[in-house]
Amino acid sequence: CGIVGYIGDQQAAPILLDGLEKLEYRGYDSAGIAVYDGEEIHVMKAQGRLKVLNELSHGGEMLPGTLGIGHTRWATHGAPSDTNAHPHFNQDRTIAVVHNGIIENYLKLKKKLEKKGYTFVSETDTEIIAQLLDYYYDGNPLRAITKVMHRMEGSYALGIIFSDHPDELYAVRKDSPLIVGHTKGGSIIASDVPAVLKYTRDVVFIENEEIVRMTAEQMEFFNVDEEPIDKETVHIDWDVNAAEKGGYEHFMLKEMYEQPKAITDTFSPRLKDGKIVIEELGMSDEDIKAVRKIMIVACGSAYHTGMTSKYVFEGLARIPVEVDLASEFRYRDPILEEGTLLIVVSQSGETADTLAALREAKSKGVRVLGIVNVVGSSIAREADNVMYTWAGPEIAVATTKAYSAQLIALYLLAMKFAHVRGELSDEGLAEMIEELKELPAQVEMMLNNQNKIQKFANRYLAARSIFFIGRGIDYAISLEGSLKLKEVSYIHSEAYAAGELKHGTISLIEEGTLVCSVLTQEELYKKTISNMVEVRTRGAFVMAVTNVDNTEVEKAADYVVYIPKTNKYFTNSLAIIPLQLFGYYVAVGRGCDVDKPRNLAKSVTVE
Ligand code: G6P
Repeated sequence: CGIVGYIGDQQAAPILLDGLEKLEYRGYDSAGIAVYDGEEIHVMKAQGRLKVLNELSHGGEMLPGTLGIGHTRWATHGAPSDTNAHPHFNQDRTIAVVHNGIIENYLKLKKKLEKKGYTFVSETDTEIIAQLLDYYYDGNPLRAITKVMHRMEGSYALGIIFSDHPDELYAVRKDSPLIVGHTKGGSIIASDVPAVLKYTRDVVFIENEEIVRMTAEQMEFFNVDEEPIDKETVHIDWDVNAAEKGGYEHFMLKEMYEQPKAITDTFSPRLKDGKIVIEELGMSDEDIKAVRKIMIVACGSAYHTGMTSKYVFEGLARIPVEVDLASEFRYRDPILEEGTLLIVVSQSGETADTLAALREAKSKGVRVLGIVNVVGSSIAREADNVMYTWAGPEIAVATTKAYSAQLIALYLLAMKFAHVRGELSDEGLAEMIEELKELPAQVEMMLNNQNKIQKFANRYLAARSIFFIGRGIDYAISLEGSLKLKEVSYIHSEAYAAGELKHGTISLIEEGTLVCSVLTQEELYKKTISNMVEVRTRGAFVMAVTNVDNTEVEKAADYVVYIPKTNKYFTNSLAIIPLQLFGYYVAVGRGCDVDKPRNLAKSVTVE
């Protein structure tokens, strides 16, 4: 979910709607705003995309007032509906709340309030917050907020209006992102930076259990004991245009085309005089030598970059690597011994499970390195060290350029570790660096295949299932190719370790089923080719993505896409491009909402 709030000398509603549009990537199954004109709190909510709300409110004109809060929702408790959309209120509608996060003990709190005679209109955990504020409210908003904070378990970023304080907007956070900024004649809050950039580039990152009281003139910060605290302002210098579509039909396509740049921007600051220098790693050569095990924890595509880098770290640096889904890691009581380095990978830096995994590891004294795209995000701030992927803001829900940048960051790390630990010679390193530098131009070449892939994709718009197979790194590539396709096109897809096919999935192959096979690891060509033959003899149509020299594959494939020559550890960066394009064009051909696929969210800030 995303929240916004505004107080100032302008009409609030248009500013809120504009901010919400920038946050729609955080969830978009319903939206709502509440605006106060000093007499009445006007509210409007609408299920569906923000544009419904925009039309309904005539661009905000129907809601007069200069103080307001807004929300774009990704349902957790309570189905998407007008009633469950935020803002939520206390019974006499004098307190309005928008919330991003989850209140875990909300049922207990609800029961308590029901006993005291409170009744509820929605199924949400957020309504509890409004009612609980009401319960504790004695005319002092700050006091009521801190009391409620003591009672709530879970995560929240809140924007709150008290109707008897018409010149104040309150906001508070715990474990959900919140930033605030002051503009000429007004103050603004939001879940993320793009929503405020139009108004100010100087923002304050609110930390856990901090409260902010805003007026048109100023912002004041407090801790949970109601004591004033000082906060630093951070200047944001990214390009606002970077967050807009710039001529492409979809953000996803634009972002795929930004991959050469994302890759260059991620490696070039770390290459100095033929060496890899990662200052922000905060590890000396001795520290690197002392690492006995690496654990990589992430979700979604970021997890696939972890899978890939397992092969790279193990193959190149001979360090054992475990890769875990963050949601699994955090509850499996992992064994974290001395000498373990935990790497969390996250585009948003806000994925709740990944953040929880980081905290779990830190609490056990393990060093945590974050590979993160969003500067100043929670993971970036809480990790011991952070290595940024310089992909720039990514708007399409399905990641492409951040994924590519994550791969580069992990390659750099693995190369660095291998070199320091004596597993990779100076010459070997120099050679790999040269190969790395060629990747942006090679990715560009792969992107130029666009028309060919689009034509091919158009043949599969009505497919029922599409399978991806590969071994080793090629299996990791298959996982990502399959995920891209199903995320945006809604076609059922599975990725299989090619050798595992025979243990079940092969029974799903029918006449004409498309099987995409990935073969970039020379020593495995023969093995995967025999799996291709197995599915082909059962009627499958076999597509292959393989190295330029592997013409042998044409015997077993009906359609081949070649990738240029690169280091065997870097093939994912090239082989993924046609698979991204394939997923994208199948989705476009099927008329899907590519940038905002149903049921998904860009940044999953709830468990
Ligand atoms: C969501 C996105 C994916 C992303 C995953 C992890 O599911 O749709 O594209 O890979 O979250 O997000 P993170 O921000 O932690 O990389």
